[in-house]
Amino acid sequence: GAAILTSLFIISQVQKKMHFLKAAGNYCLEIQQARRYEKNFFLYGTNLGDALENIYAARAILERDASKFESVIGRENFETMLGHIENYEKLLKSLISNKNSERKHKIELELREHGAEMVSLAMSLVEKERQSIKNMLNISKRLPLGFLIVLLVLIIYISNFLTRQMIGTLTRFVDYTYRIAKGDFSPIFPARRYRDEFTNLGIAINMMMEQIKKHQEELVQSRKMVAVGNLTSGIAHELNNPLNNISITTESLLDEFEGLSKEEIKKRLNDIYTQTERAAGTVKNLLDFTRKEEPSFVPLRINEIINSTLRLTENEITLNNIILENKLDEDLPKIKGDFSQLQQVFLNLILNAIQAMDRGGKLTIAAQIEDDEFVRVDISDTGIGIPEDILPNIFDPFFTTKEVGKGTGLGLSVSYSIIQKHKGKILVKSKLNEGTTFSVYLPKA
Ligand SMILES: Nc1ncnc2c1ncn2[C@@H]1O[C@H](COP(=O)(O)OP(=O)(O)OP(=O)(O)O)[C@@H](O)[C@H]1O
Ligand SMILES: [Mg+2]
Repeated sequence: GAAILTSLFIISQVQKKMHFLKAAGNYCLEIQQARRYEKNFFLYGTNLGDALENIYAARAILERDASKFESVIGRENFETMLGHIENYEKLLKSLISNKNSERKHKIELELREHGAEMVSLAMSLVEKERQSIKNMLNISKRLPLGFLIVLLVLIIYISNFLTRQMIGTLTRFVDYTYRIAKGDFSPIFPARRYRDEFTNLGIAINMMMEQIKKHQEELVQSRKMVAVGNLTSGIAHELNNPLNNISITTESLLDEFEGLSKEEIKKRLNDIYTQTERAAGTVKNLLDFTRKEEPSFVPLRINEIINSTLRLTENEITLNNIILENKLDEDLPKIKGDFSQLQQVFLNLILNAIQAMDRGGKLTIAAQIEDDEFVRVDISDTGIGIPEDILPNIFDPFFTTKEVGKGTGLGLSVSYSIIQKHKGKILVKSKLNEGTTFSVYLPKA
């Protein structure tokens, strides 16, 4: 754009100067011709009237193109030229009319001097403009090249600037993805004041994280239902036992009521009461576990969580010929967490352990203080173990080695994300055909 404007400016200037040169050229011809007549007059005494004709013509040129002259050579120069020609004309006229030879000689000298000055000024102005046109044309010849260079430098500078900006932002976004992969879903704040593609990307990622968080919560909930499904036979058993006892005791009471002592009746009613309590406890435990609640982080007794989880799995444990070794320290400090979610973690780990020992074995649950920060719970089995090559994958969603219908591969992945939300960690040690230990670290309250 600038190049085009500059070129147009130069072209219009050159055009103006060319007009001037044409008029000034004619002007010069006229005054040079006048001087030739003047010379003839001195040499041969010819008529000066012809010179006067040329001077009139020259003056007409000046007057006709006055604005052109003025705009090119400036008002001052133009007025000097006009003054010259008027003066010359005056001198010529007075030379023609003067008969006094003494005076005539003086005027002659003045005329020659003045004529020379007049011509040389005109010629020098013409020469100056001719030179200026030449310069301008030279410049306009180099102009495209100059602009090309400026343009190139500008392009290189801008592209450099943009790449640096982009790469900086991209690096930031790479850091975000690592952070997100680690489970930190705190929103991304735009680093710029103005809204650009990167801001939009940030907004999109924030939306994506919202969705992931929502889906993860849904997943935790649906996992609970799957776990409960796995436990159905155990729970049925849990409820069936007290119901059977109640039924038998009530029947015996009805049959033998008349012959029983008050003491005996009271004892059997007490039995019935205990059994209803037991059934109600099971139902409550189940309801607590499946209830969908916003996780709330409060100080909890780890032993309570584990024992209530074990109660849900008691039946699976006995059915699979598994010996349970409970090594929970009695006076552990409280940890900070959500009861139902932690129950789910331990349920997943215990069920995995049970499923790894289909020919029986020993399940050990130990809890102790790890350090100033954490309480550690170890869940160990003497099952099949985990092959080293799949160890890095077991926490991946949908990774399972169990046959279709037996496992969804979500137990560990959900457990992992729950423990992460608790700012704890979960580690695994395993030896093929010997057994596996999962260690859960939970921060003290
Ligand atoms: N205690 C363990 N002993 C041996 N292998 C285990 C143990 N715990 C987990 N694994 C391995 O890790 C895989 C993933 O476990 P995860 O609990 O995530 O899924 P799953 O048990 O297969 O299915 P789901 O828990 O959804 O019913 C299992 O399929 C199994 O191969
Ligand atoms: Mg599992």
